[in-house]
Amino acid sequence: MDVIAKQDRMKDVAHTLRIAGITRPADVTFSFEGQPLTAPAGENLAAALIACGIRRFGEGPDPARPRVALCMMGVCQQCLLRVDGRLAQACITPIQAGMVVTAA
Ligand code: FES
Repeated sequence: MDVIAKQDRMKDVAHTLRIAGITRPADVTFSFEGQPLTAPAGENLAAALIACGIRRFGEGPDPARPRVALCMMGVCQQCLLRVDGRLAQACITPIQAGMVVTAA
């Protein structure tokens, strides 16, 4: 699957997972592990990644149990990622255009 087709498919998934009928800011582009993604500006990073189909934020001690957002309120640290080179909790980090996100 080429990159454009993959992005279109991810956009379809994101629109399916987001609540319909809510006005949101314009989409901005950011990247996760080098993959370009789009999400509404200001949406929290964890929600944006999940809406884009990302189900693995990083590896935990047990490879069968990858890390992904759990509490979605800044408590558990399971969503820890590196955003523009700095560690950040994805669930309390708003999306900004051009963010470069990688596993922690
Ligand atoms: S999901 Fe628990 S701190 Fe982010």
